[in-house]
Amino acid sequence: MLLNRLPAALLLLSFCTNLHAQTQEISKKVDKLISDMTLDEKIGQMTQVTLGVVAKGGGGNEDGSLDPEALKHAVLDYKVGSILNTTAHALSVEKWRAVQTEIQDEAKKSRLKIPVIYGLDGMHGQTYTLNSTLFPQNIAMAATRNPDLVALAAHITANELRASGVRWEFAPVLDCGRQPLWSRFPETFGEDVYIGKTLGATAVHAYQADGLTNPTAVAACMKHYLAYSAPRSGKDRSPSYIPEIELREYFIPQFREAIKAGAATIMINSGEINGIPVHASKYLLTDVLRTELGFQGVIVTDWEDIIRLHTRHLVANSPRQAVVMAINAGIDMSMVPMDYSFFDLLKEAVQKNEVPVSRINDAVKRILLLKYSLGLFDNPYPEPASFANFGRPEYQQAALQAAQEAMTLLKNQNNILPLSKDKKVLVAGPSASSLAPLNGAWSYTWQGNQEQWYPADSKTIGQTIAEKTGGKASVLSAKGFDNTQNFDTARLRSAARDADVIVLCLGENAYAESPGNISDLALPENQMALARTAAATGKPVILVLTEGRPRLISSIEPSMNGILLAYWSGKKTAEAIADVLFGDYNPGGILPYSYPRYSGEIVLYDRKHTEDVREIFNADMTWDGYNPLFPFGWGLSYTQFTYGPISLSSSSLKGSGSLTITIPITNAGAREGKHTVELYSHQQYASITPNMQRLRAFKKIDLKAGETQTVSFTLTAADLAFVNADLKTVTEPGNFDLMIGKQKVSFSYQP
Ligand code: BGC
Repeated sequence: MLLNRLPAALLLLSFCTNLHAQTQEISKKVDKLISDMTLDEKIGQMTQVTLGVVAKGGGGNEDGSLDPEALKHAVLDYKVGSILNTTAHALSVEKWRAVQTEIQDEAKKSRLKIPVIYGLDGMHGQTYTLNSTLFPQNIAMAATRNPDLVALAAHITANELRASGVRWEFAPVLDCGRQPLWSRFPETFGEDVYIGKTLGATAVHAYQADGLTNPTAVAACMKHYLAYSAPRSGKDRSPSYIPEIELREYFIPQFREAIKAGAATIMINSGEINGIPVHASKYLLTDVLRTELGFQGVIVTDWEDIIRLHTRHLVANSPRQAVVMAINAGIDMSMVPMDYSFFDLLKEAVQKNEVPVSRINDAVKRILLLKYSLGLFDNPYPEPASFANFGRPEYQQAALQAAQEAMTLLKNQNNILPLSKDKKVLVAGPSASSLAPLNGAWSYTWQGNQEQWYPADSKTIGQTIAEKTGGKASVLSAKGFDNTQNFDTARLRSAARDADVIVLCLGENAYAESPGNISDLALPENQMALARTAAATGKPVILVLTEGRPRLISSIEPSMNGILLAYWSGKKTAEAIADVLFGDYNPGGILPYSYPRYSGEIVLYDRKHTEDVREIFNADMTWDGYNPLFPFGWGLSYTQFTYGPISLSSSSLKGSGSLTITIPITNAGAREGKHTVELYSHQQYASITPNMQRLRAFKKIDLKAGETQTVSFTLTAADLAFVNADLKTVTEPGNFDLMIGKQKVSFSYQP
């Protein structure tokens, strides 16, 4: 055994030694370069502007044509190190290559010929390249519980980005979705820490697979550090108040894992935590991120976030003070991005000794190392070797599989689903004839709501259902989510007369960031009225929800016969919905969040014991505090899975040992299906009130009808750790319960 491993170990050792030597060599080159750089050249590297600044006609530019004078001004006068974003909408892959080439040509004219690094957003596929492959948003990817699919989607996204000539990807989003009102909830992997850290690290590995010089990889950008996702009011970029013990328990672990996975860069939360804007927090940016978590890469701000320390947060009494605060706190690059104010102000601040040159050199070194690691110094131009990796036919299949696995069947009264294809189906509701409510944010435009930019072969739900039923379906819905016809209850009532079943498509139109702010989690009244009307016809109603966050449906839920949650699942959402509705695909997605029942009761699955208690008076109490409409992990199938007893390798876990947990799972139904087995733990007593459940592991299996498979998990003490009152991550001795489905066993842990 040892002999077998020896050559591999030697190979690894020599690889590591080579890598180390290479890194040393690059580091020396960068030091030399920095010693040759003027202050202007250094500050320029730390400056990032948006494409609109150098495009003809500015941010509204439609065709990606650059303004040569503006480009020269940016690259030669201001020596900017980085450009980001698109202008009005996505550009063709060829256009992107031309844009990149023109920018790098300009950089070649500069004194030191330092290449520009370009960054784009690609949260669920390559947002800003026309005809790229859009995958489910993270919230839907989390419902698949399939890390392989997350990796595949990230890998394809990286390929399509690199094929566009761009090597820096502003993803993955690692924010923990614990505030469902928040407009960026769909970009998260949901409310659970374990899912977030597992899938987040998987995405980082996949974006950066095979090394950053490889024409199949891009530099990942973890975002938005830290705790952007939990504003108290639910409004984007508004304050959060989070004790440090919670920051460490629920928000830091995702970043810790992604850093371990080698994430090259990180973007900062635009908001404030406990009154301190994160962009001004030396504690979070330097003490925690650099010193404690060991992050070595580039720290970039989010959009305009330095100047906003002065204009919005009011912690800096001048624009220059804002720059001083942020750079001294640890920021390396400023996404300014609309002008050169940052450059001028930072230069002034350095000249006044308000920012030490050592901090500038540190930031510039990290930026140049990133450019080296991406191979930009060798060849900054679009690489022909990457071109064939755009739009490959197999990407469509990957998008379909991801959308199918995301589909989460919430309700199936009397097995109304799957529907038979010869039924007369009436397809209605605002999302039935549109693409935007199937894809959501960051889809060919920032808001995702301009359907003229979607690929021509994209399908609506109305179309895919019409195809399945051989034309027997009638589609009442009109194009455009907000089209008033879509909310006409009288029309719905009369159209339903002829139908056997109504498929009612409700939810949310696309939105991103602040334009997606809402004040009420309830599904809007005009949609609720449609649901009530549909139910009142007496025809069975299947509710299909295409939404980024859980909009409240409690009052209509009892009168819906079936409910399919489709999230925003990308290019193949409509195909996946029809496949599930008509039984061509057996759904297996499970909720990555607790679907709330009431707006006043957002209790998450990993609640504390006293959140379960509903005290009426003293001992008179109920234990139903966690009472969502559908719990975390919920999702039905067209087959049934039964669980045998859990077996443990031992009734105690000691020190650095491990515990093996096994459970037989049987597909007791009549058709094949995918199923996720989830392992939860609960410490019975601990120094910090223990969570009632914490997800510790999951495994997705595929079982044929009648088949049984034994699933096993391994736990170590570290898997059971929590953050204690001293802010240390510890595992305390004691008794633990382990839960899988309805089965429960206990064991004890001794250090
Ligand atoms: C968003 C970031 C994004 C950046 C660049 C910001 O408004 O918060 O997630 O990466 O814009 O587009």
